[in-house]
Amino acid sequence: MEADPAGISHAVAALRDGHLVVLPTETVYGLGADATNDSAVARIFAVKGRPTDHPLIVHVAGVHDLDTWAVNVQSYVEKLAHRFWPGPLTLVVQRRTAIGSVAAGGAPTIALRCPEHPVARAVIDALGCGVAAPSANLFGRVSPTSAEHVLSELGDALSEGDLILDGGECAIGVESTIVDCTGDIPVVVRPGGVTEAQIAEVVGSVARPINDLDLAVRAPGTLAAHYAPAARVLLAEPLEADAVIAAAPPGDVGLLCLVSFVPTADRLVHRLVAPSTVEEYAQDLYAALRRADDLQLAAVVAVLPPAEGIGVAVRDRLSRAAVGTASPNVG
Ligand code: TXA
Ligand code: MG
Repeated sequence: MEADPAGISHAVAALRDGHLVVLPTETVYGLGADATNDSAVARIFAVKGRPTDHPLIVHVAGVHDLDTWAVNVQSYVEKLAHRFWPGPLTLVVQRRTAIGSVAAGGAPTIALRCPEHPVARAVIDALGCGVAAPSANLFGRVSPTSAEHVLSELGDALSEGDLILDGGECAIGVESTIVDCTGDIPVVVRPGGVTEAQIAEVVGSVARPINDLDLAVRAPGTLAAHYAPAARVLLAEPLEADAVIAAAPPGDVGLLCLVSFVPTADRLVHRLVAPSTVEEYAQDLYAALRRADDLQLAAVVAVLPPAEGIGVAVRDRLSRAAVGTASPNVG
C-alpha cells in the first residue's frame, strides 16, 4: 500500500491542529494524536472511554528517537530497536520527565514503537515528533484491523477535523509485542508478532511476568478481560473441541479454528474463518470476532492454535476475549 502524499499532508496538518488521526499500522489501526500535545492526547482517552492512567504507546520514526523520549536506557534496548524496528515491537523505557506525561498516563516510563506500515511511517516522519496511539477501538473491545471497523465503532465519537486514513487490512492482525526494558533482563508483557525466541536471540535472555500482579504493575491496563465481542467465547484445545461445541449454550455457534480442524459434533456451526496457518489465524482473528457479533451468534468456539510463533499471541488474545465476555462492563 502506497502512502498518498495529499492524504499524508492533510493528516499531518490535522495532527498539528490538535485533531485525532486514525492510522493504519501493520498490527492494528491506532487512534493517533501528536504525542507532545497534551490536550489532543487527552481526547484519545475521552473518545475511547479509556481510564487516563492506562498509558499509551508513542509511535516514533526510528531508533534515533529513543534519546528524545527516554533516559538511562539499558544497552540491549538499542539492539532490539535496531533489529526489530520498524515492526511489531514496543519497548517500555524510562521516560524523559519533560515529555509525554499525559501519553504515559503519568507513569515514569514510556512505551515506544516504530511501526512498519508505509502510511503510519509517512505521517510520523512528516510530523517530526511522536504519535501517541492506542488501538482505535472503544476501551476493552476488539481492536480494528480495517478502516471499516474503525468507522463503525468510532465514527460517532470522532469530531470535525479528525480523520481516518484507510491503509487496507492490517497484515499481522494482533497488537505488537510489548517488552518491559526497565530492568537488566527484558520482560515480555504482551506477546505479539516478535516472539520471545527472537528477542532472546538478540539479547541472550528474556523473562515473563511472574504472576498477574507483576504483569499489572509492569503494564497498567493489561486486563484479564479484553478484546471482547458480545458473543460468548469458549476456548478449546483441538482434542476437546467437539465436546465444547456440543455443550455450547443454545443458539447459533461460530467456529474459529485452523482449516485443518474438522468438527464432528452433531451440531451446525458457522465457520467464521478458514486460516491455513497461525499467521492467517492472527490476521483474521479480530474480523472474525466482529463477524460473530454481526451475525448475533450466541457463542464462538475458538480452537486454540499451537503456542508457537504468533500462535502465542492468538492464544493470549482469545483467553482475554473469553474472560471479557463474562463481564461486559470490564474494559
Ligand atoms: O500494535 C500495537 O501495539 C497497537 C498499534 C496501534 O501500535 N497499539 C496498541 O495500543 O495496542 P494499546 O493502547 O491498545 O495497548 C497498549 C498497551 C497497554 O496495554 C499498556 O498497558 C501498555 O501498552 N503500555 C503503554 N505504555 C506503557 C508503559 N509506560 N509501561 C508499561 N506498559 C505500557
Ligand atoms: Mg488496545
